[in-house]
Amino acid sequence: MKVDATLHVNGTDFPVEIDPHLSLLRAVRDEIGLTGSKEGCDDSECGACMMLLDGKPVNSCSYLALQAVGKQVTTVEGLAGAEELAPLQAEFLRHGGVQCGFCTPGMLVSATALLRSNGDPTEGEVRVALAGNLCRCTGYEGIVRAVRDAASASA
Ligand code: FES
Ligand code: FES
Repeated sequence: MKVDATLHVNGTDFPVEIDPHLSLLRAVRDEIGLTGSKEGCDDSECGACMMLLDGKPVNSCSYLALQAVGKQVTTVEGLAGAEELAPLQAEFLRHGGVQCGFCTPGMLVSATALLRSNGDPTEGEVRVALAGNLCRCTGYEGIVRAVRDAASASA
């Protein structure tokens, strides 16, 4: 049996009718239509589905949509500028931190959470913060440089 709920995503209320077992990832992608967050492992291993929940990064594939009712959900779409790239996104491009792009939405979410709590992270702190986000393309170096340069630029 489906239930009515309202999800608050990127500053907007979305009424949805969902199965109680539906993950937050599937609700946001399939019911709301925001497809920036990716489904990789569907098992809390890769971080491609990462969203912010009241500012904290969570693997949305392993989080029930109903648990997010009453919370602020932020996806990668909510981090982008209206017309242009957010500074963190621009640094990812500049440093080659994006190749196939599959990991990028989750990386940006985790990096945003880090930079909001630590405006000047060390390389080690960046690597720890992004440890739950797997990237099979870039080797991580460009991603780490991008996050650190985005921090410097906003200091
Ligand atoms: S799809 Fe959620 S952690 Fe991989
Ligand atoms: S850019 Fe391809 S998985 Fe990271």
